Amino acid sequence: MGVLMSPSVLDCDLTRLHDEISRVSDAADMIHLDVMDNHFVPNLTFGLPIVRKVISECSIPADCHLMIDDPERWAPEYAEAGAYSVTFHVEAATDPIRVARDIRAAGARCGVAVKPGTSANAIEDLIPFVDMVLVMTVEPGFGGQSFMADQMAKVSTIRSWVNKSGADIWVQVDGGVGPTTIEQCAEAGANVFVAGSAVYRAPDPAAMVTALRSMAELSSA
Ligand code: DX5
Ligand code: ZN
Repeated sequence: MGVLMSPSVLDCDLTRLHDEISRVSDAADMIHLDVMDNHFVPNLTFGLPIVRKVISECSIPADCHLMIDDPERWAPEYAEAGAYSVTFHVEAATDPIRVARDIRAAGARCGVAVKPGTSANAIEDLIPFVDMVLVMTVEPGFGGQSFMADQMAKVSTIRSWVNKSGADIWVQVDGGVGPTTIEQCAEAGANVFVAGSAVYRAPDPAAMVTALRSMAELSSA
């Protein structure tokens, strides 16, 4: 399972979003777009109009992380807009299998995310319906928080389940991922790495993406 890098724009200069994405697009595999609604999380970023513009103006695939209530209503629209991957939170969904089916039917890869306090068991039955599981390594809502190493056991558990399924399902980590934490994520079985502040606070964000990729590759099982 190859390493994939998905830098988050949350910590970039959002007034210059296109230019900021261009700084990393040759080094990264996807661009991670954190959609927050001020209900599911206590923060507000951007929604469909801006994501649509990013998809039409930027060549890099969009990895949309929806930290929003009512994914039944909204998640398929991100897929219809052309997102490469659409991830919803299991805690926000009343009918997660329906959300997953609708995202896939609209042509995107489907991800399901778990907050730090949510057990891996909450997504076990969803594995046949998804293409990625996102294990949050901070409480969702803000960039620049400290990495929660206690989530690595959950990453390992989910990695063993997805391997057993035999399907091409990715395991993503998001939150506090950087040079001092990415290796343990890779060792635990993650293969998709989101990094926001570590990338955009670096003097050369593309070089940081490349460096993080090398570290993850060397630590991958
Ligand atoms: C947090 C977001 C993350 C965040 C990552 O709720 O989902 O994608 O932007 O930022 P860092 O890497 O700074 O923790
Ligand atoms: Zn995110």
